[in-house]
Amino acid sequence: MRGRMRADTSLSTLSLDTLAVHAGQPPDPVSGAVMTPIVLASTFAQDGPGNTKGFEYSRSGNPTRNALEACLAALEGGKYGFSFSSGLGATATVLHMLSPGDHVLCGDDVYGGTFRLLDKVMKPMGVTYSMVDMRDPAVVRAALRPETRLVWMETPTNPMLKVFDIAAIAEIAREARVPLVVDNTFATPVLQRPLELGATAVVHSATKYLNGHSDVVGGALVTSDEALAERMRFLQNALGAVPSPFDCYMILRGLKTLGVRVRQQCASAAAIASKLEWHAGVARVYYPGLASHPGHALAARQMRLPGAMISLEVTGGLDAAVGFLKRLQIFSCAESLGGVESLAEHPAIMTHASVPEPARRALGITDGFVRLSIGLEAEADLWADIERALAG
Ligand SMILES: Cc1ncc(COP(=O)(O)O)c(C=O)c1O
Repeated sequence: MRGRMRADTSLSTLSLDTLAVHAGQPPDPVSGAVMTPIVLASTFAQDGPGNTKGFEYSRSGNPTRNALEACLAALEGGKYGFSFSSGLGATATVLHMLSPGDHVLCGDDVYGGTFRLLDKVMKPMGVTYSMVDMRDPAVVRAALRPETRLVWMETPTNPMLKVFDIAAIAEIAREARVPLVVDNTFATPVLQRPLELGATAVVHSATKYLNGHSDVVGGALVTSDEALAERMRFLQNALGAVPSPFDCYMILRGLKTLGVRVRQQCASAAAIASKLEWHAGVARVYYPGLASHPGHALAARQMRLPGAMISLEVTGGLDAAVGFLKRLQIFSCAESLGGVESLAEHPAIMTHASVPEPARRALGITDGFVRLSIGLEAEADLWADIERALAG
């Protein structure tokens, strides 16, 4: 259980809720403490040069981080877990596996920061990318190039909540011998486990549901691919985007309630989405749990529940959307998602401002477009807040 970053396979038959509480976190052998100690040391004493107790320096390895990484691996059903100082830290570390001349095939609707990293950081370094709507797996097959070295997707996507077929795209990537990385931030392993569907690796912004309390910025990667894990282990240390031991503890603490949080948030989101669909002030609702959603059948097959994110188009354009966001009282108008508190935001002005026009509008991120992250407040109170804010 204490082995570096390896999930304990004896835990693999346990359910996610049990793993979230225990994986990587046995009682402390020294004191019996049932909560994982926060080991703040930056360096570890050696019994003579090179004779370590498994730790040398906290960038390359730390006991609290090890506990988190083992827990993350267990939750995603992978062998190796890695944690990072942010979701983008995880993404940037993966992208550093690439060399000039390599090509990334990316889903067309990704977090704006992921797009910015590809477009403004990787492209000038000679790594090219193309973005395609992956709802049709045939489009993915056609867009692969001889120099494609990575397929990257989010599902459900941010913010359009499109659903991509992980198993079908994993099969296409496997045939082309290209790794498929799935950003599982929106779904969490409670709702979908991409590695079981054939993905090579899963990444997360742990800032969101994994931590779940909007008080840590963090990232994660899980894989069972030995070669990829070896490279990530090297790059995690070489690039240094590692989380602090305190943040690792906070994420571990948040993970313990991941299942109950996500299931309750999904239940409230489903109820709110179906009410929004019939509201006169709403032109369109995007929620994979609605029969009207084009990805509904796939989501029902691929996800245990349709998630707790809802996007909608308010009638009346920019003024109506801004007014709605200002009038909300329980929802905070803020970036981010996945916390216990409900958040609402305007992607065109906030999270996706780095996606340029006309691409942003072509995706459907219009002036009246609003994204909701449903938290753990009572659903009736959230709905009353939304109704009041829509009424003007
Ligand atoms: C789907 C998704 N992936 C990655 C990120 C980046 O994560 P972080 O903000 O922790 O760097 C975000 C942030 O919003 C996100 O929504």
